[in-house]
Amino acid sequence: MRIDILTIFPEMFQSPFDASIIKRAREKGLVDIHTYNLRDWATDKHKTTDDTPYGGGGGMIMKPEPIFAAVEAIKDEEEIPIILLTPQGRLFTQEVAEELARHDRLLFICGRYEGVDERIRQHLATDEISIGDYVLSGGELAAMVITDAVVRLLPGALGYERAAAEDSHATGLLEGPHYTRPPEFRGWAIPEVLTSGHHAKVAEWRRRQALKRTLERRPDMLARARLSSQDKRWLREMGYAGPFAEED
Ligand code: ADE
Repeated sequence: MRIDILTIFPEMFQSPFDASIIKRAREKGLVDIHTYNLRDWATDKHKTTDDTPYGGGGGMIMKPEPIFAAVEAIKDEEEIPIILLTPQGRLFTQEVAEELARHDRLLFICGRYEGVDERIRQHLATDEISIGDYVLSGGELAAMVITDAVVRLLPGALGYERAAAEDSHATGLLEGPHYTRPPEFRGWAIPEVLTSGHHAKVAEWRRRQALKRTLERRPDMLARARLSSQDKRWLREMGYAGPFAEED
């Protein structure tokens, strides 16, 4: 996969993309990430990428010309997703991450200041994404969040076999608790079943813990999760009275 990122702060991306899973995925050739400084496409001598809003009011608006020129230079003739990061976009979820991970290329435009000229939304971006209902100073952190969530889904990116498919949210449930050595720490023992060596019992315990944790913390997810009839029985026993998703 190739990911291109347009920003006026390319230096923000250096350390997050040079650590951990993204670093390894780049080294393995699973993803090729390029950041571009939008100022390189500014045409005036001050390298201006923003201007005051027509009609007055505070703040600065990102100009259309450098962004159009940069996108046109980077994407060639190909039709690729051109994603504007903005708090007005569709909400980023694990499902959106899975959708983006199926593309060969992604191009992110990081908006800054009060926003971008509307013609960028209307005539250039093919998608607009928000990472949550809060306002960041710009799209850079959002582009990093999305890149991280997408790259770890690429086959081979996680160095271990417990697939990303088992993660919280990917299954539609939160994961239950995890433990490692020592078996007793400050008087707190781990659940006995985990050392029983009985795989079916461990699997059942894990599933019930995931259901319990989701019920306690995110009962809204239960209405959408893919659940077996056994899961549903356990949830009813635990007191869940809400709806379940239609089976497909
Ligand atoms: N830019 C500013 N806030 C943002 C958000 N919540 N998501 C994506 N881009 C943004």
